[in-house]
Amino acid sequence: MKNNQTAFLCSKCSSKAPIDTLEPTCHCGGLWKLDYTPPKFSDSLIDKNCWNIFRYRAFMPLEGETWQDISLGEGMTPIIPLEENLLLKMDYFMPTLSFKDRGAAVMMAHIKNMGVTSVVQDSSGNAGNSVAAYGAKAGIDCEIFVPEGTSPKKINMIQSHGARIHIIPGSRDDCANACRSKVWEEKKYYASHVYNPFFYEGTKTYLYETYEQLGRIPEEIFIPLGNGTLFIGIVKALEEFLESGIIGKMPKLIAVQSENCAPIYEAAITANKEIASITPTPTLAEGIAVGVPMRGEEILSAIYRHQTQVITAPEPRILEARTALAEKGIYVEHTTAATYAAYLRYTETNGPLKDCLLPMCGAGLKSD
Ligand SMILES: Cc1ncc(COP(=O)(O)O)c(C=O)c1O
Ligand SMILES: [Zn+2]
Repeated sequence: MKNNQTAFLCSKCSSKAPIDTLEPTCHCGGLWKLDYTPPKFSDSLIDKNCWNIFRYRAFMPLEGETWQDISLGEGMTPIIPLEENLLLKMDYFMPTLSFKDRGAAVMMAHIKNMGVTSVVQDSSGNAGNSVAAYGAKAGIDCEIFVPEGTSPKKINMIQSHGARIHIIPGSRDDCANACRSKVWEEKKYYASHVYNPFFYEGTKTYLYETYEQLGRIPEEIFIPLGNGTLFIGIVKALEEFLESGIIGKMPKLIAVQSENCAPIYEAAITANKEIASITPTPTLAEGIAVGVPMRGEEILSAIYRHQTQVITAPEPRILEARTALAEKGIYVEHTTAATYAAYLRYTETNGPLKDCLLPMCGAGLKSD
């Protein structure tokens, strides 16, 4: 059903564009956000016969039924207790083994609906895996840019879905710049998990599912923070819940950056509105190694709006945290172990938490 109210809105100059615009940003360079108010969240609007994230499509500005051909059965990931007061949401139980499938499924359904047949994207690997897989399902040609040093398993997976891959020397930020040159110069459609507002409509479902599964929102929620796709999705969903009266107050959000690449942490400790200019050093947490998050100001604004605490993951403890999880049957990639390492240090310093949720974002088989 066409929703005439829904548009893209420039986050800088407030210009509007139709949601089927091919432009990656506003003419002023500002990133798009969605001008869309979903209906009040209610159990009765969930499509209980649909066993994937599109059961929540009533709260997304999706047009048409293309999602039915795109879904690979993403979402519906279990929540398990790890220890007292600690729950894990097993988001690596996904078609491409990471939470990025939530965002990619919705974004690629939108792109398919628009009739776009080829896209480019840059990624530390996981979002590229997701876009390549959903591109394959949708019959959309994909070119994926990854930084050198990306796990070979992620690269093989991208190629096996038929996507063309470009391995870019330098950092994750250099890789994004190489991809963006192609977008601007060759007018390619940018299926970016960072730029495209539809991606966040998918990551919102992390929170919707949590509520449906637990019947409550946990008191403390840890979120890895690189480009902020999960962070922004969770905040959006929580704000919808506040608006709908589902919750009366925000849970405590604790965002985790790498201590070797922490532009948002550095900004937050000085209450700055703009990300800090940093020089990243190598980290095992490749998924959050983003020196210049393009939605940095939007993320910082949400951080201050909701008194989010930003912490860093101790680099020397990432492997130990990965082993500790594996010894309990949970095999995660390093970026996810970093979240657990940050949780362990946080609770050692501040004492135990009451009712905490940690996302298990990426599978261990993806990194060596
Ligand atoms: C396993 C894993 N966890 C967390 C993240 C962080 O997500 P974001 O960059 O959207 O904040 C990523 C991003 O690639 C990832 O691959
Ligand atoms: Zn603008």
